[in-house]
Formats: sequence, structure tokens, C-alpha cells
Amino acid sequence: MNDVTGLADPSRLIEAARVDIAAASSPEALEEVRVRYLGRRGQLTLMMRDLGALDPDARRRAGAELNDAKDRITAALGEAAARLGRAALEQRLAAERADVTLPVQFTSEGRIHPISQTIDEIVAIFGEMGFVVAEGPHIEEDFYNFTALNIPPEHPARQEHDTFYLPPRRGRQSNREATLGAADDGSRLVLRTHTSPVQIRTMLAQQPPIRIIVPGRTFRADHDATHSPMFHQVEGLVVDRSTHMGHLKGCLIEFCRAFFGIDDLPVRFRPSYFPFTEPSAEVDIGCSRAGGRLEIGAGGDWLEILGSGMVHPKVLHNCGIDPAQYQGFAFGMGIERVAMLKYGIPDLRTFYDSDFRWLRHYGFLPLDVPSLVQGPLNGAGAA
Ligand code: DAH
Repeated sequence: MNDVTGLADPSRLIEAARVDIAAASSPEALEEVRVRYLGRRGQLTLMMRDLGALDPDARRRAGAELNDAKDRITAALGEAAARLGRAALEQRLAAERADVTLPVQFTSEGRIHPISQTIDEIVAIFGEMGFVVAEGPHIEEDFYNFTALNIPPEHPARQEHDTFYLPPRRGRQSNREATLGAADDGSRLVLRTHTSPVQIRTMLAQQPPIRIIVPGRTFRADHDATHSPMFHQVEGLVVDRSTHMGHLKGCLIEFCRAFFGIDDLPVRFRPSYFPFTEPSAEVDIGCSRAGGRLEIGAGGDWLEILGSGMVHPKVLHNCGIDPAQYQGFAFGMGIERVAMLKYGIPDLRTFYDSDFRWLRHYGFLPLDVPSLVQGPLNGAGAA
């Protein structure tokens, strides 16, 4: 099909290329089409080569037409490549669609230990109340564990606590001892007997407002069915200008009800004594022990679950916070104890046995963390 120029008709070539391009159903097929028309031995390329045989006028005209044909075929190839790319993506998206409403399938045999689970739950609840997690060292200085908390050297609490003391450090004086000029043993190292020293560390490091929750390991020289030399506590501390006892009560009532998942759980504040709070209160929750069976939330009995109080002015003062300007409340709770109550775990010692059968029974799957809004997953031990 030669025209006056002696060449194939470019418009027919464009038409043929368009048909071939439309028929290409894969990037590979499209590449074949490109080679067929624009490759080194492609139809258009060969036509361009033949231009040399024409006289100058005819060559200019035919050259312009062929260039135009080349542009059109190139553009059609580009559009087709984009179309195939979109189709491939859509196909992949359809094939890989995940149904997020399906239950999660855990392939691992692993379980989350009830201690970790309980810490996560407590942190989640206080987290929603605006508390942030703070931490401190397990090996603590006497000053932070006792003295700054208004527990003086001769105070019987130091014995009551059955403290693990570490051997004295020779030739070293702590910063604390240096600044206090203390003849007492303010730098003596102890395994912290409670999480309360983190109150001191936090208040020394930062001015109010303070709102922290401190989960962590604690140590006392105690070992029987209800005491372990290593156990866990969670400490809470709030300090601000107008913090009062009503905040303490509201916060802890809310926590107890969210944690145990009982909206009308009775909560009682019973006067008590701690050297670092004034006034101090023990917090009890309502329960029934009828027939030797413990049931939380029902009946006329009470169960103590935590200690609390308004931060003692001396403690604020010890941390460089002016008690005339600021007030606060604090609380401390045993993690194992509330975990045993919530999940019906009868023996404290089993927490540390590393018995996988026990963990399979009492352990948790990931994502089983309750919140104030969602409510706790009651008795959510893995099936
Ligand atoms: N530290 C106390 C203990 O180990 C618990 C405690 C009681 C902590 C009252 C507090 C508090 O912050 O205000 O027994």
C-alpha cells in the first residue's frame, strides 16, 4: 500500500498500531507491540529509513508525517501502559483484601503473663485519666526509699519492711549524702521495698503539675504462701495547686470500678497511717465471703486492696516543692494481689514457677487490654 511518496500510509500504520495496542493485555504484550512498530526493525523505523530515497520536498513532508505518527503511537503506548498498571494494582488489591472483622488468629503458643497483663490494664486505665508512666531503679539509695519519704532512720518501718540491704559502698559518697551532709546512711543501697521512691525521683526532677503511674518490681525479705521476696507494685502520684482528697477518692473509685469491671462496686476509704501521707487511707472494695467463696462486688464484707493519702508536706518540702503552693495525693497497690483477686489465681507462688501449663491457663493473648471506655474483659484468661 504505497502512496505517492512510495511509502506505506502513516495514518493506516497509526490505526493498525492502535488496534494492536488495545489488544495487548499485559505489559509484555505491549512491549512486543512497541518493538513491532518502533523497535530497530519496527515498521515505522523502517519507513523512516526509506525517507532517504525521496527527493528533498517529498522527504520533508513524509518526514513530518512519520514523526507525527511516531508521537501518536508513543502516546497510545504510554496510555496503555498506565491502564495496564492500574488494572494490575486493582487486581492485587482485590486479591490481597483483608477482612479486618475476622477474629485474630494467633499461631503462637505464647501467652502474656498475668503480671504483665495486670500492669497493662492498670496503666491503660490511669493512662486515660492523663497519668504517664514513670520508672526508677531497683537498687535504690536509702534516701529515696526511706528518708525523703519521711521515714527517719530509727523508724520501725525500716524493720517492718524487712529490707534487703546491699553491702556498704566504700570510699563513695552519694550526691544526696553530700548535700544533706548527712551522718545517716542516706547513700546506703537497698533493693527498693516499694515503688514510692519514684515519687521522690519524679518530684526532684520536675515541678508540678505531676501525674504519674509507676509499675515495677519491689523486694522484701519475706517468703511464705502470701509473700514473695520479689513482687510488684504500682505507685500513683498527683501534685498540683488545687489537688484535694476529693480527687483522690474520685480517681481511685473510678479505677477500682474500671479494673474489676463492676460499675457499682462499693469502695471504702478507711483511715490509716503512712509516714509519707497525711491524712492516709486504706482502700477497701466490697465483697462477699459467704460459704467460703470470695465474690467481689457483692455482700457486706470488705477487702483491702491499696494504700493512699495526701502527700505529706514534709515530702513535698524534701523535694523542693512548696507545700504552701502545692498539694497532692499518692497511692500504692500490690499487683499480684489484685491480679489474684481479679483472675481467681489462688497461690502467689505460682506466679514465678514458669510452669507453661499454668501460663496457658491463666495467661492472656495479645490485645486483651481493657480501658475505661471499653470496660475490662472479665475473666479474659486465654481459653
Ligand atoms: N509504699 C506503701 C507500701 O509499700 C504503699 C503506699 C501507701 C504508697 C500509701 C503510697 C501511699 O503512695 O500514699 O506499703
